[in-house]
Amino acid sequence: MRVKTVATRPIEGQQPGTSGLRKKVAVFREPGYLENFVQSVFDVLPGLAGSTLVLGGDGRFFNDRAIQIILRMAAANGVGRMIVGRDGLLSTPAASELIRSRGAFGGLILSASHNPGGPDGDFGIKYNIGNGGPAPEAVTAAVHQRTLAIDRWLTLEDDVDVDLGRVGATTLGAMTIEIVDPVASYARLMQRLFDFDRLRALLARPGFRICFDAMHAITGPYATEILERQLGAPTGSVINARPLPDFGGGHPDPNPVWATELLARMNGADAPDFGAASDGDGDRNMIVGARFIVTPSDSLAVLAANATLVPGYAAGLKGVARSMPTSAAVDRVAQALGIPCHETPTGWKFFGNLLDAGLCTLCGEESAGTGSDHVREKDGLWAVLFWLNLLAVRGESVEAIVRAHWRRFGRNVYSRHDYEAVDAAVAQQIVAGLRAELPALPGRSAAGLAVSRADDFAYTDPVDGSISRGQGLRVFFADGSRLVLRLSGTGTEGATLRLYLERYEPDPARHGIDAQAALQPLIDAAEALTALRARTGRAAPDVIT
Ligand code: G1P
Ligand code: ZN
Repeated sequence: MRVKTVATRPIEGQQPGTSGLRKKVAVFREPGYLENFVQSVFDVLPGLAGSTLVLGGDGRFFNDRAIQIILRMAAANGVGRMIVGRDGLLSTPAASELIRSRGAFGGLILSASHNPGGPDGDFGIKYNIGNGGPAPEAVTAAVHQRTLAIDRWLTLEDDVDVDLGRVGATTLGAMTIEIVDPVASYARLMQRLFDFDRLRALLARPGFRICFDAMHAITGPYATEILERQLGAPTGSVINARPLPDFGGGHPDPNPVWATELLARMNGADAPDFGAASDGDGDRNMIVGARFIVTPSDSLAVLAANATLVPGYAAGLKGVARSMPTSAAVDRVAQALGIPCHETPTGWKFFGNLLDAGLCTLCGEESAGTGSDHVREKDGLWAVLFWLNLLAVRGESVEAIVRAHWRRFGRNVYSRHDYEAVDAAVAQQIVAGLRAELPALPGRSAAGLAVSRADDFAYTDPVDGSISRGQGLRVFFADGSRLVLRLSGTGTEGATLRLYLERYEPDPARHGIDAQAALQPLIDAAEALTALRARTGRAAPDVIT
């Protein structure tokens, strides 16, 4: 097959955000948009020729077209072997696992995570490096630089599509394409980490029921294979299991706002014992007990505190890590265990170096992301299996485990308020306004709360020394509570402002308190400091998690 060189010009707006390049499908379908970005990735990777890459996506609208375009471009750029999930499907954690277990050079993952799909929805692409994790900032910056100068991309003369429906090997030009079962290798890793015999026994206990909501996204086939087929959960334990290009019209975002079907079941009188959901690409998780939601920050802390009950972590944890806006619940566990706790900027890419260097074993984010050193992405189904393994060993309910945790460590009452599709200029002004105020805040009070400290979070990577500044505005108060304000890096419409609120409650008598009520003084302080609601004209946040 012959290589074709197509002349092109830089296209605006190809700067990767918190997790890759994410835009409306219509933008990705503009001539040259996907091609420019993919070629820019190929252009900045030294050693691409003859290498092995992993390719797959969450199956959303345009996944199939994008895969064919990328395959032809990869062949034209001299990639040696492309490992592709059957039908172009791979969950993000499974892609990470494949890159690692196959010793691949890297991989391309197609997803816009939890953002809606379909022709009017979102699409995304990101490049992961050989450790299986998202490319570090140096790489994404180089890719962006390249998009500003690109003048051609390479593809094949022939516009043939590759049949990706059957597992096996085929060729495209000089490139080998290996089509793999998207679940098999990942499932084997889960079998090594968790006690599958014990999980089978738990799921066979009379009356014990689970409900996993795949939200018509990528984890459907994974959860069906692992929970139902391998672990024996009754058929129907996985709901919305069939991946759909538009996720059935919903937001595949596992939180109380969007996972309504799961929550309706879990809040009912006849609720299953355990409920969970994952997102579009399978890296996020929500854990729910009967009439009880576990916040992601608490979930991370509970997993850390109980990790030695699970085979894969029986030897203990080297350390833990959390993103800055995530609550400090896990910090208290780390302190009790005598292990380090690292605080990183938002985005999974910052955990990669820590995991590679053996500085932490578990890590997580308040945005429903939890993971460990088993891959280099957060992993929804892994968190579900971890929780089930804890339930099996402890023989207690989800709620009982969390309440016992609070009694031991105290409760970090926590909430995130999102203001979505805000006028970008207004959002920038709100952030810039508070940033300018920061130095003057200590000693002042806001809505009756005394400020003790305020800063713009900067992170120095302990492994490579790189510094990331401007990662979120933090205001600490004299009573130990904290608020954080930052701009989302994953939104595709206007700007999304995220306000994170946290207050420590040591008193067990007050652990049952409603989080929003407990955080009201902080919510008032945030408004006093930013006038966020007044300036956006919003009476309340769009999403509260
Ligand atoms: C959001 C989450 C962040 C997560 C990212 C990718 O990014 O807040 O924790 O890593 O999605 O799933 P944001 O939109 O806040 O930049
Ligand atoms: Zn995701």
